[in-house]
Amino acid sequence: MWDFVEQLITKHKEQYKKSLENKLERDNQPGDGKFKSFLELLIEFSGEQGGYSDTELREETLVLLLAATDTTATASCLASVLLANHPRVQRRLYDEIQQVLGESERTLDNLSKLKYLDAVVKETLRLYPPAPVTVRRCTADIDLPSGLTLKEGCYFLVNFWGLHRNPHCWGADADQFRPERFLSATPDQLAAFMPFGHGPRSCTGFNLGLASVKLSLAELLRHYRLRPAAGYRLSRREPLRVTFDIMLKHVHNFEVQLEKRR
Ligand code: HEM
Repeated sequence: MWDFVEQLITKHKEQYKKSLENKLERDNQPGDGKFKSFLELLIEFSGEQGGYSDTELREETLVLLLAATDTTATASCLASVLLANHPRVQRRLYDEIQQVLGESERTLDNLSKLKYLDAVVKETLRLYPPAPVTVRRCTADIDLPSGLTLKEGCYFLVNFWGLHRNPHCWGADADQFRPERFLSATPDQLAAFMPFGHGPRSCTGFNLGLASVKLSLAELLRHYRLRPAAGYRLSRREPLRVTFDIMLKHVHNFEVQLEKRR
């Protein structure tokens, strides 16, 4: 990852230098409305006093790359394993995709019409938030309704995994995979569902993340039927087993079987 990021930065720095040399020519070109990438903007703001140092450039780029890709990939893989093991949900989702998309080749334009897909992705993120915890530092004493006080300067962990399975918010079946719950009323408590965090430091890419997971699932399901892996099948007694470092990981390596649809 480091090498990749280094190459990316070197390439964009060279391009930026060239574009400065050709500035006059570029400015004179009509309609040069090319979008700038996040990295290009960071490079533009670096090098000067108060700008980004090379180390900061590397770290910011790496954080964005990991925050954007590993989370989205983990969410798509977890949803695939759940769908493979819940054939009824998979059938309903496939029917919706067929109904909305038909023979159309473009999924992106119709994403907002795929309501059950939205529910499936949210239910996956509820039960298995790819980043299951976050950490905050108290900048002032906070008195909690329980009577506990979080003291200024201490760090505390926000446990999304626990919040998302709290029966007070989600009912007695909080541990079950039931996407339909997102088609009806969801809990009133703002913090009952926060796979992307909450507040000013929450996920900056949540819309892109949600859209990416939905697109990949819709495309996958259009072409393949998902089946449980040969070695194991989920059940009440055998729930999905995950481990956790920064990101959730499936202990069985996200294995599923794909059967081509005709
Ligand atoms: C399903 C996909 C994703 C999930 C589950 C996810 C989840 C999260 C979570 C839990 C946080 C910490 C929030 C907090 O502490 O309150 C976070 C932060 C962040 N995410 Fe995402 N994320 C996803 C996709 C993305 C994408 C696609 C991008 C970028 C294009 C992105 C960029 C970021 C960045 C930059 C932060 C740090 C924000 C800050 O510290 O101010 N994420 N994400």
